[in-house]
Amino acid sequence: FGPKPLAGKRAIVTGGPTHEPIDPVRYIGNRSSGKLGNAIATALADLGAEVHLVTGPTNQPDPVGVRVTHIETTREMLAAVEGALPADILICNAAVADWRPATEAGQKLKKQAGGMPPALALQENPDILATLSRHAQRPALVVGFAAETENVIEHATSKLSRKGCDWILANDVSPERGVFGGDSTTIHLITQDGHEDWPTLPKGDVGRRLASRITDHFAQRSQS
Ligand code: C5P
Repeated sequence: FGPKPLAGKRAIVTGGPTHEPIDPVRYIGNRSSGKLGNAIATALADLGAEVHLVTGPTNQPDPVGVRVTHIETTREMLAAVEGALPADILICNAAVADWRPATEAGQKLKKQAGGMPPALALQENPDILATLSRHAQRPALVVGFAAETENVIEHATSKLSRKGCDWILANDVSPERGVFGGDSTTIHLITQDGHEDWPTLPKGDVGRRLASRITDHFAQRSQS
């Protein structure tokens, strides 16, 4: 139904949190609901793109009309994204864990009576957005997110060059705004040319606005 301006384009979307195992029953994770990643995947598919969503564990139903790969860890997410290449569009929306436990205990860690709590040594995870931005098969349009609690535009602009992506969607996730798990968010779209401030929108509308912005981007490129 409706026009399909992204027909023939392949898109990969990452969404949700990652879970980094401590032992067979415990993990390090975060509060990402996966709602926005699903909304973006749906909106791109609605405009005709062939969409592959790579998502961490969420309570959301799989979006319809989208290929979905479920992963748990950051390293699995990176492998799934690389496995989904080639693509024209990559949207890294996942709330990836920056660190994982350096070792995963093979058995459940036991509390020792009167003993010290175990120390948790951490190791840095691969950065999927930065890796794909510099990849031999880099998608033509690479979009990242920045969850900031202060100096939103400034921090997101420096993230754009640090990560090597084309756009950053920055949102203010100060706890009082209730973005994590909430239904709406206020986006600032940062590109090489400056920034656009979007109104506060339900996550479904953010997905549709991003998909339409991406449509305009490819339409302009094909004209020039
Ligand atoms: O550096 P920071 O985590 O704030 O960057 C956020 C952006 O980078 C998001 O687009 C997120 O999906 C992506 N990211 C990633 N792999 C990581 C960390 C972040 O793809 N290990």
